Amino acid sequence: MRDIIVAGNWKMNKDHLLTVDFCVSLALDLQKRRTDGLKVIVAAPYPFLDAARGAFGDSVGMVAAQDVSAHTEGAYTGEVSAYMLASLQIPYSIIGHSERRQYHHENGEEIRQKLIRLLENERIPILCIGETLKEREEGLTNKVLETQLQEALKDIALEDGRELYIAYEPVWAIGTGKTATADQAQEAHAFIRGWLKGGYGAEIAQNIHLLYGGSMKPQNIAELIAQPDIDGGLIGGASLIYEDFLAMIDTAIIQAKTE
Ligand code: PGA
Repeated sequence: MRDIIVAGNWKMNKDHLLTVDFCVSLALDLQKRRTDGLKVIVAAPYPFLDAARGAFGDSVGMVAAQDVSAHTEGAYTGEVSAYMLASLQIPYSIIGHSERRQYHHENGEEIRQKLIRLLENERIPILCIGETLKEREEGLTNKVLETQLQEALKDIALEDGRELYIAYEPVWAIGTGKTATADQAQEAHAFIRGWLKGGYGAEIAQNIHLLYGGSMKPQNIAELIAQPDIDGGLIGGASLIYEDFLAMIDTAIIQAKTE
């Protein structure tokens, strides 16, 4: 059975002290709860990854990077490699977020290289895919998802137990307050799982965690994660507010128990 994942994507927010304060409080609150079947992840900005990891201690809280270099090492000023993340014991990294695709012009091949670097270093990629509003309105949602999956996963083997998470994040729902309905989200997630089944077989497809992202908040998380192919959320804005993030964790705990 898949775990329920509550992942916060802080983007370029918070500072060192706010990060430590948040993660120390969260570690304490998580220790008071029954967290079997639940994974809590915070994607903090690079400079605070190690502090966040230290603040989580041995709680179930885990840290993700928000991006990683497509290169292994060398003269790439400003880049952070998957090996560096491994050396800090940061288990996850987001890749292919629509803000990186849009503002940093990342293409499918670059995202594939990032995914390879993470797998080489035994890190778990959280691959983001999703359509724009125009693409949805033109009926291209599945085509876009398929293309982004094909580009990122071309020639990638997962048969040896390597882990991968995929976040379906419709671009029109990110930071806009517009959430996909539970039906729309489930439909996209079912398409993604079906595609994975075609490429990797039923067993691997069943084990890949699929997250929904796009204006997820305490008021809508329950309905979304109750869907059969939605295994949790990648949460931006609402993950910055401690009480909201904890409320979403509590909803996920209830969902994890009922599965
Ligand atoms: P949002 O962001 O929850 O603020 O819409 C989600 C994301 O970009 O991962």
